[in-house]
Amino acid sequence: MLEITFAKPALPEKGALALLVGEGEALAGLGAAADQATAGALGRALAAASFKGKKNETVTILAPGAGLSRVVVVGLGRREEAAGRATEEAAGTAAAALAAEPEAVLDAGPVAPAQAAEAALGATLRAWRFDRYRTREKAEDRPKLARLVLAHADAAKARAAWAPLKAVAEGVFLARELVTEPPNVLTPAEMAERCRGLAKLGVEVEVLGPKEMRKLGFGALLGVAQGSANEPRLVVMQWHGAGPAAKGRKGAKAARPLAFIGKGVTFDTGGISLKPAQGMEEMKTDMAGAATVIGLMAALAGRKAKVDAVGLVGLVENMPSGTAQRPGDVVKTYSGQTVEVLNTDAEGRLVLADVLWYCQERFDPAFMIDLATLTGAIVVSLGHENAGLFANDDALAQTLIAAGQATGEQVWRMPLGEAYDKLLKSDIADMKNIGGRPAGAITAAQFLQRFVNGKPWAHLDIAGTAWSSKDKPCVPKGATAFGVRLLDRLVADHHETR
Ligand code: BES
Ligand code: MN
Ligand code: ZN
Repeated sequence: MLEITFAKPALPEKGALALLVGEGEALAGLGAAADQATAGALGRALAAASFKGKKNETVTILAPGAGLSRVVVVGLGRREEAAGRATEEAAGTAAAALAAEPEAVLDAGPVAPAQAAEAALGATLRAWRFDRYRTREKAEDRPKLARLVLAHADAAKARAAWAPLKAVAEGVFLARELVTEPPNVLTPAEMAERCRGLAKLGVEVEVLGPKEMRKLGFGALLGVAQGSANEPRLVVMQWHGAGPAAKGRKGAKAARPLAFIGKGVTFDTGGISLKPAQGMEEMKTDMAGAATVIGLMAALAGRKAKVDAVGLVGLVENMPSGTAQRPGDVVKTYSGQTVEVLNTDAEGRLVLADVLWYCQERFDPAFMIDLATLTGAIVVSLGHENAGLFANDDALAQTLIAAGQATGEQVWRMPLGEAYDKLLKSDIADMKNIGGRPAGAITAAQFLQRFVNGKPWAHLDIAGTAWSSKDKPCVPKGATAFGVRLLDRLVADHHETR
């Protein structure tokens, strides 16, 4: 992780400087100081580039004098409209432009201390890179930015605001790392081991294997797993952060926890309903929902969120083999409902069916939110800009939409309804696992709804948002960890005891 420090504004004697500048603003703070020290070189360069300060507009000035190797100026758009998002994004853009510099000082302008911390978050999120499997990369080909100094008059306050954001960044990085890991390394058992790592943050971690799940009657999850040589796991993570305040008056029992459930298909070949070869490698990301839940638990625990939350992830590999389930099989879910498996590639809903039912039965949560790279259909509907949101609870849906706007991890609500539910009717069992081509993301959500037992629930179909094929200001291309920041924000804004 980028090393972040906070200091009172001072021009570095050498090295790089980054400036975030609002639309129509003159250089101020360290920008004005650097301009003066370089006899107006910055102002001349910005004028020559017709720099306006529009969002993420970037000008890089090399060796302008005064010992500076590089000055990166990034636009914020109109400062009065520049909420946290714009600061974060501009800082992320700056971090990318500073890749050749080992360290830099960043001045976000006349902002509150919390906004300087947001700039630190944006830069940190963009500067992330997964290096585990590079063994021959030349030093000159590697991004160098390792240290960033945030210049702010109230450095102590900005530093204090950074502490919880740093924990969120760590959660994001854990999720990105899990999604990026190759599927031969990240088997269900290995992913469960990584979950155990959260114990050091104070998360209670429980791992169930196939024996325990067979005993419980997880017929749907186990049906998906049965084609793979890699055994499935169910991981239950509990964070108890609410403290006695949540227990209400006079020994009332603990408040109900918030529950987050993730689809963790470590590789989805489609099973016997095999996927085409083209692009199949993308299906290593089919555990992104689980990765997000794990990253979220790390974030909540890392910043000691005052909330009780549980995270459950169903980890399986969907493979074709002599032991794999067949199209036409009927499985009995943990809820008791039976499912005719007409397409073994509609496996995520089978995994979630058992985990959702188990979650509501065991924890009686205040609500359940599941995340899943569930359908190609949601990518057709919403592309890569919004995750699909399905909910049986309007208030929960609204808070998710608001948290999405605040974090840039946007969600778009999709409908549910009886007419869609009917498409799941089976000729021989309680339901089938596919509803046909029309409304594919919706029928998948309808399927899940049959396993929430009427409890408040939202489902995020993240098939289009878990992975990005292009760089974004705060997300380098690749695994996005979509949902970690969104749900952390939902918790922070609505569910923490004071
Ligand atoms: N994991 C896939 C969905 C997916 C597609 C994720 C593209 C990420 C990118 C899921 O298990 C799947 O295969 N869904 C099928 C469902 C169909 C068989 C009803 C699909 O979307 O084609
Ligand atoms: Mn599938
Ligand atoms: Zn899948």
